[in-house]
Amino acid sequence: MAQSNDSLWGGRFASGPNDALAALSRSTHFDFRLAPYDLKGTSAHIKALHQAGYLSTDELAKLESAIGQLLEKVLNGSFGPQPDEEDVHAALERGLIEIAGAEVAGKIRAGRSRNDQIATLIRSFLLDASVEIEKQLHGYIAALVSQATKHRGVVMPGRTHFQHAQPVLLSHHLLAHAWPMVRNLERLADWRKRANLSPYGSGALAGNTLGLDPNLVARELGFAGVTQNSMDATASRDVVAEFSFITAMIAVDLSRFAEEIIAWSTFEFMYVKLDDAFSTGSSIMPQKKNPDIAELARGKAGRLIGNHTGLLATLKGLPLSYNRDLQEDKEPVFDSVDNLLLVLPAFSGMVSTLTFNTELLESLAPMGYSLATDVAEWLVKQGVPFRDAHEITGQLVQFCEQNNIQLEDPTDSQLLAISKHLTPEVRSVIDVQRAISSRNGAGGTSLAQVDTQLEALNKVLAGEK
Ligand code: ARG
Repeated sequence: MAQSNDSLWGGRFASGPNDALAALSRSTHFDFRLAPYDLKGTSAHIKALHQAGYLSTDELAKLESAIGQLLEKVLNGSFGPQPDEEDVHAALERGLIEIAGAEVAGKIRAGRSRNDQIATLIRSFLLDASVEIEKQLHGYIAALVSQATKHRGVVMPGRTHFQHAQPVLLSHHLLAHAWPMVRNLERLADWRKRANLSPYGSGALAGNTLGLDPNLVARELGFAGVTQNSMDATASRDVVAEFSFITAMIAVDLSRFAEEIIAWSTFEFMYVKLDDAFSTGSSIMPQKKNPDIAELARGKAGRLIGNHTGLLATLKGLPLSYNRDLQEDKEPVFDSVDNLLLVLPAFSGMVSTLTFNTELLESLAPMGYSLATDVAEWLVKQGVPFRDAHEITGQLVQFCEQNNIQLEDPTDSQLLAISKHLTPEVRSVIDVQRAISSRNGAGGTSLAQVDTQLEALNKVLAGEK
């Protein structure tokens, strides 16, 4: 048997916990990072205790000073959990007793439970993390916007099924990676509405008998309000799961561009050159320059998906209200936050320092018969039903492929032999610039539409949207 039990719950036990139980139960190695939030919570809670008449003004002042001192010690690393302490809450209670004495520090636990504490702390932590992630997302969007602005007007092959499809502007392609991140910003803003409510005062599950004011605590902690149901507040973790989904979505969105950058930087593509400061070498092959940032981003996406999936699996099938399973919510979401905050700055740096091989992109844009749709739509404008236009253009492509020539190369008579509708005027649409500028509907790849996007994204970056 282990030590006699002087933890937060020893009273009804004749002996201390078994060593194996203590080891299994312990969470200080990951939850102690919540210590500053726990102390802030305690500081708000003692105000509620004072207001309800359970602490004198003197005691309140003494505790406030003790909390301040302990916070300083936590932040400078001179206070930490003992090996036998179960969790952050136990460690901090000991710390406050050491500073303020058991008489007064022994009063702070009244009217609260670790269940409502931890439910509050994880929200506070994630609210702060969301601000960091938002900053990084802005940085990433800014990197895409700056590359798109720098390469205004450059054309490249647009792909579907990774095959040449239709020419697009490089800026259009780059900004196609910015908009998902704008949506992730919107997701974070929307998530905040649900996260920004304080569960403090829910107690273990049913509230408290002491008449403490949860609104006072919520206000002190900077929450917009309080949760409506103490059982829901202590038992649910959808706020954590939703946040972990957003982190996974961000990672997946980064991973999609990562995959392209990895392909684009190969000898076969040569679309981009990675900056030396944002690529790595090989320990054996002296010529190598590797896209490790993109690969790590792609790899981390798998990890973040796993964190999210694991968390949902933990939550599945839990009866109301608090269950100890919920302790498993923190490690995955901490890991997702930490890894995302590692990936995002590196990824943004890599993107903002990419050098594009614009000449090559321009020359490849019309290859692979990527203007065939333009021919078919030209035929439609001449009154040919699209079904026939598609067929005729298909035959033109087949003819060109067999003769190893481009769409604009067949002679007038060769065109007419394919179809009477293929008059020499068709050549006017076999033109990349024209193909781009004619796609001028909202969201299209024309320069005017891309400029509209740039304007909108600059507003997002300026915080106007
Ligand atoms: N370490 C616990 C968690 O993370 C804190 C709440 C513990 N509550 C309890 N009744 N044992 O969920």
